[in-house]
Amino acid sequence: MSDFHMTECIRKTKAHLPLSPAEIKALVQGVTDESVPDYQTAAWLMAVCFNGLTDEETAQLTMSMRDSGQVMHWDMLPGPVADKHSTGGVGDKTTLILAPIAAACGIFMPKMSGRGLGHTGGTIDKLESIPGLTTALDPAEFLALVQRVGCAVSMQTGNLAPADKKLYALRDVTETVNSIPLICASIMSKKLATGADHILLDVKVGSGAFMKNDADAAELARLMRAAAKADGRQCTAILTDMDRPLGRCIGNALEVQEAIRVLRGETDNALGQLCIALAAELLRMSGKGDADTCRKLAKQAVSSGSALQKLAQMIEGQHGDPRVTDDLSLLPQAKCSRVLRAERAGCIASMHSEEIGRASVLLGAGRMTKADSIDPAAGIVLAAELGDAVSTGDPLLTMYAATEQQLDEAEQKLRAAVVITDEQPEKSPLIHKIFSDRT
Ligand code: URA
Repeated sequence: MSDFHMTECIRKTKAHLPLSPAEIKALVQGVTDESVPDYQTAAWLMAVCFNGLTDEETAQLTMSMRDSGQVMHWDMLPGPVADKHSTGGVGDKTTLILAPIAAACGIFMPKMSGRGLGHTGGTIDKLESIPGLTTALDPAEFLALVQRVGCAVSMQTGNLAPADKKLYALRDVTETVNSIPLICASIMSKKLATGADHILLDVKVGSGAFMKNDADAAELARLMRAAAKADGRQCTAILTDMDRPLGRCIGNALEVQEAIRVLRGETDNALGQLCIALAAELLRMSGKGDADTCRKLAKQAVSSGSALQKLAQMIEGQHGDPRVTDDLSLLPQAKCSRVLRAERAGCIASMHSEEIGRASVLLGAGRMTKADSIDPAAGIVLAAELGDAVSTGDPLLTMYAATEQQLDEAEQKLRAAVVITDEQPEKSPLIHKIFSDRT
């Protein structure tokens, strides 16, 4: 678009006037090829934060960002291709459980994932805590593994939605991350570029999530589903609770341990139940039957051991040690640990997941900047859950780290994050709402 002027885009968005599809395409092109300077992009992002975008603008922004790099196709796979995305949470290891269940049920899941940043973890870091495992697979190796096993997890390639990389880096330093249309375009441009026909979105809601309340999460879900539909994909969004960490383990190798336990059959807990529900919806979307049938299929994949076997095959295919699925002690173990005990009797009224996530970063399980390295063995194992009654001296959690000093620092944060009161708290359900084409 030769007569494109970024100042005009800023002026329009500032004045609540919609941008044309051509303007949005040119804007994304200019961000990608760096012909638009960062200061103008940042000004436009801030205008979007204040004034939002129309649904049409959001869909166009998503598609233009998708087309800024490579768009993957999976026509060579002889079955349904599905993907799942979580908007990010604390203790969220669902991909490690869901991908093998889906593969065991005949669904292909070529998964591109990211690293953790801030208080939320990332699937790549979790998987890389398995000795030997690499997520830097070349495209041919990735495809061969997906064809043979049904699932593989690769680090996101540099050329997938490069416009998002540039925009996200600017949003990160200009306080403009928290805009629902921008979050939608960021997530969905990458999901659509990854090429799956069936997309399951796990939209986290609560203190540990981007979306702090149900209304914002529902709006994000609506926009993301509209973007998927506009691109001819099937998409379900499930709003799930992040007012407490998901499961009992937070930290990379600790989360791999917990995922393996679920795949060994320990599904009678919040994490196990959520994974079965997510897997059942993924199977239903992919044409494996009605909701009840798919639930049974997902459970059978676990009880028969076939999902665990898929995980072992995937680990082996990614050059990791598959024996970890039999022997959890082969995973990295922390040098230091400390149990945090209840200082009073009562009920656990709050487990502030964002603060628990931040404490896990202090222990070494996460990074505050992209350059930080992580300790795969570090983290937290919760001994009690939201709503549990405890007596003075009961264990609340165990911290794992490389040094006593890290334990000291995290202890203070964790003391504040786990609140004990006399009253039983109201506990929201793990699944708040499901938006799918069957509702
Ligand atoms: N995850 C993303 O990929 N992008 C966002 O904007 C927020 C969460």
